[in-house]
Amino acid sequence: MEQNFAIAAQWVFLALVKPPEFSSSIDEVDEFYADGEKHCRPLLEKAAAYGEEQGLTVQTEMLHGHPAESLVRYAADRKADLIVMGTHGMGGFKNLVIGSVAQKVVTYSKVPVTIMK
Ligand SMILES: Nc1ncnc2c1ncn2[C@@H]1O[C@H](COP(=O)(O)OP(=O)(O)O)[C@@H](O)[C@H]1O
Ligand SMILES: [Mg+2]
Repeated sequence: MEQNFAIAAQWVFLALVKPPEFSSSIDEVDEFYADGEKHCRPLLEKAAAYGEEQGLTVQTEMLHGHPAESLVRYAADRKADLIVMGTHGMGGFKNLVIGSVAQKVVTYSKVPVTIMK
């Protein structure tokens, strides 16, 4: 029987938790990341539950660091076949064709990138 690529693939749903923008003590950085994780965890779990409902094999992961850089490195290290992302995030400037993270990932990733409108 023909295998459906989307079903056979191992999907990793990633939340990229940004560091604080201004220099902070180590404790403050830890607290900042903890808040970020608290915010992201339910979103990630909801997305993973939906993916599983659709028959995907889903793993979730939260990474600390600058989003584009962390994502590009993670995909390369894991030898991912594909990165799938949206055009825009929750903030950002809606008048841009694609957001800054999407733009950086497309520019620097050696792993193929699909941007979903
Ligand atoms: N912190 C993040 N964690 C996970 N995915 C992200 C994150 N930031 C951006 N993305 C991905 O990049 C896409 C584009 O977002 P982005 O370039 O940040 O746009 P904007 O400038 O509107 O925030 C999002 O739809 C999402 O797939
Ligand atoms: Mg963004």
